[in-house]
Amino acid sequence: MLYDVILFDLDGTLTESAPGIMRAAQIAVEQMGYTGFDPRVFEGFIGPPLHGSFRQHFGMSDTQADEAVRRYRAYYTERGLFENAVYQGIPNLLRRLRAGGARLFVATAKPQVFTDRIVERFGLARFFEGAVGASIDERASDKVSIVRAALPTDGGRAVMIGDRKYDIHGGRANNIDTIGVCYGYGSREELAEAGATHIVDTVAELSDFLAGDIQSPPGFFVTVEGLDGCGKTTQIDRLAAHLQQLGYPALRTREPGGSPIAEKIREVVLSPDNLGMHAWTEALLYAAARTEHVRAVVRPALAQGQVVLCDRYVDSSAVYQGVGRELGLEKVLEVNALGTGGLRPDLTLYLRLDAAESLARRGRASSLDRIEMEGEAFHRRVCDAYDQLAARDPERIRTLDASLPVEEIAIAACKEMDLALAKR
Ligand code: TYD
Repeated sequence: MLYDVILFDLDGTLTESAPGIMRAAQIAVEQMGYTGFDPRVFEGFIGPPLHGSFRQHFGMSDTQADEAVRRYRAYYTERGLFENAVYQGIPNLLRRLRAGGARLFVATAKPQVFTDRIVERFGLARFFEGAVGASIDERASDKVSIVRAALPTDGGRAVMIGDRKYDIHGGRANNIDTIGVCYGYGSREELAEAGATHIVDTVAELSDFLAGDIQSPPGFFVTVEGLDGCGKTTQIDRLAAHLQQLGYPALRTREPGGSPIAEKIREVVLSPDNLGMHAWTEALLYAAARTEHVRAVVRPALAQGQVVLCDRYVDSSAVYQGVGRELGLEKVLEVNALGTGGLRPDLTLYLRLDAAESLARRGRASSLDRIEMEGEAFHRRVCDAYDQLAARDPERIRTLDASLPVEEIAIAACKEMDLALAKR
């Protein structure tokens, strides 16, 4: 890795904060009676200290600029602060840098209180060792002293990354390298003129430059299982959101289906028009859909280091066809192993619901597929089979009580995934 200590500016570097900032500045000047300005003038408010911006762009006196800053804050604290989003690819970059051993800090001219709230709210706190913002009287807080305050005294080679000339000046005045990013609110010319050591256009380019030599960890395969009505979809939504916050590249998919050919097979195997289907035809169709899905989608994603979140996998065939249809669990596992090349999940979350509750929840559904139309005895066999699989392989299959409130299940599910990811 090129750097041991990496300082990031916030607005325009980690987060796309323009909407909230521009709106707050516009409201402040409008309230003070200014009219006839070009709204693009507020682009100049992103990055530099506010007080100076009001003076520069609206010719305000010191006292007027103080008043404008006060009005700006009134809006910003309530709403503008959260009219903000983390740039795509940033959490993944931060996670990789941490994995590579870098120490990360935020160095921003945004007041400390707002900095802390944004870093916390957008799930960035976990990546940073510290975040230094401006003191609330921001006239005393220029980027040079902010960078100085953020730099650890015992650090190694350091770099300051930012989208404006202030960031580059701040880094240079502290004798460290600087990287200018053009995807924020400054231009390439501005960054070059300020003397940036290096300039990049995109988050992807920044990632290649900073973390290109950090080996991506191998992919990770998570499957979610359970009887119909157990709430898999809701929980997978939550797991996907959690992975995104942690910075993992993730792919969400499902079975039967998940690839164009497999989705076509899904229609055949689930259609209530095909009630006369032989149990082995059904089992082989599920296995065929899975073979396509694994080879066209799951394995390539894992090879790229993604976390694959899959709604149902081989365990479903084992319990529904192997036991529900009484074809024999081992035989069904065997044909599936042929198709998938033996790909096993790293973690399976089993949302356990008993057959009676599953039936009750299914009874409230508007339409049923061919499997859901089966009676209670079938689903009881399936439920028992899931329990046996989980007992046989408790390390991989983690059982969660699907009758608990959604929130509680989500917390437990994310915790199981965090633990498994940490162990890989
Ligand atoms: P699913 O897509 O989870 O149901 P939903 O329509 O609620 O999204 O699964 C469809 C049905 O297919 C479900 O009843 C279980 C069944 N199934 C099998 O019998 N074997 C399998 O291998 C798989 C993947 C699903």
